[in-house]
Amino acid sequence: MHSYTGLSQPEIVVGLDLGTTKVTAVVGEVDGDGITILGVGNVPCRGLRRGVVSNIEWTVRAIREAIDAAQTMAGVEITTVYAGIAGSHIRSHMSDGVCAISGREVTAHDLERVLEGARAIPVDADRMILHALPREYIVDTQDGIRDPIGMSGVRLQVRVNLVTAATSCVQNVIRCVERCGLNVADVVLEPLASSYAVLSEDEKEIGVVVIDMGGGTTDMLVYADGGIAHTSVIPAGGNNITSDVAAGLRTPMGEAERLKRNYGCALGRMIGDDEEIEVPGVGGHQARRVPRQLLGNIIEPRAEEIFREARRRLEDAGLVHQVAAGVVLTGGSVLMEGMVESAEEFLGMAVRLGFPVGMKGIVQLVQGPQYATGVGLVQYGAEHLAQAAARGGYHDLYEDSLEPEPAPARRGKSGLWGWIKDAF
Ligand SMILES: Nc1ncnc2c1ncn2[C@@H]1O[C@H](COP(=O)(O)OP(=O)(O)OP(=O)(O)O)[C@@H](O)[C@H]1O
Ligand SMILES: [Mg+2]
Repeated sequence: MHSYTGLSQPEIVVGLDLGTTKVTAVVGEVDGDGITILGVGNVPCRGLRRGVVSNIEWTVRAIREAIDAAQTMAGVEITTVYAGIAGSHIRSHMSDGVCAISGREVTAHDLERVLEGARAIPVDADRMILHALPREYIVDTQDGIRDPIGMSGVRLQVRVNLVTAATSCVQNVIRCVERCGLNVADVVLEPLASSYAVLSEDEKEIGVVVIDMGGGTTDMLVYADGGIAHTSVIPAGGNNITSDVAAGLRTPMGEAERLKRNYGCALGRMIGDDEEIEVPGVGGHQARRVPRQLLGNIIEPRAEEIFREARRRLEDAGLVHQVAAGVVLTGGSVLMEGMVESAEEFLGMAVRLGFPVGMKGIVQLVQGPQYATGVGLVQYGAEHLAQAAARGGYHDLYEDSLEPEPAPARRGKSGLWGWIKDAF
């Protein structure tokens, strides 16, 4: 389990996953020994489409219910959350930052300076930088450095993966959370959060792809050479599979969802010839028995399409041969039989399922792959609190960066939203 030694006292960290099918709040207590899960609230929500808020009222209601349930279970009052964001408005590209270190040792302050440099590039007026994720540091001519603190040289360079988002989409997430009387500590890319929950350090070191197949989107994040090399969002997920089943078997969406969960299989050839399922009729038509193979034949092409698209994006990014640990699948949709086999076939890589790991407490409530993002948001928050504490408090972090990092525990009333408003 990860330890957060920088923290002098236990802190409550809350992850809020705004998914296309559900809102999940996860309450964790973080101390030097790691994370203890204290409470979880999970509420179905239809306020998002393809990972983006489309109905504020519905989303606000679901957030309230999820937070209420989580804080009742945890017995703590929730004031601040780390919120997730996804959607096809997310883009990422590489950027470099450079600063002079004039022959002395690299300090934490130099890292902040060089990261500022990498963030100081023009972005479209309607977009904002969500993360600057270091991929490697270069001191003079030595590249591939993970942690340059303490090394000496004259020039420090960083290569970052700069993740940008549509400002309006970020604003809507923050607006929904603040309408519930909560502060947003940070808005975090959902597959980045999921990767915190399901990947091992070894996998990150040798290169790995995490694919989070939720209801509305399939999110990818690639670690290569020890850093984050690529992220992208495929605008299709489990809801598309359900729609395909509803149309293909001419049955209502609710029944299609049930059939998918109970009998679905992502690879037709894994289904026996003699297996049958009962399909309820729509509009007064009688229920009928059909071969389960038929259900498989409807699901397989959609799963294939998503995995082929993921493979294409990896090829375009030139990363296929840099992910020796293969693929880790997470998100609710990978609970379906045959997903691992389908992914192996169409991605052409080794694949395993990713369940949230690395916590104590009531872990049985957040064990499924659909909780990877919520749990990962807590782990992300814990890491940032510990790093900020090690650097001497949140205040410094806030003042020193060009784009202020949000200050988790001390954020004022105006919050991240206030900062966005100020920026315009
Ligand atoms: N046993 C199962 N078999 C197949 N699919 C399942 C199963 N359980 C859940 N799902 C599917 O998982 C999807 C929901 O997954 P998840 O909770 O990860 O999505 P989300 O976070 O709400 O959405 P997104 O991340 O796309 O915004 C739904 O499409 C649901 O049908
Ligand atoms: Mg999700």
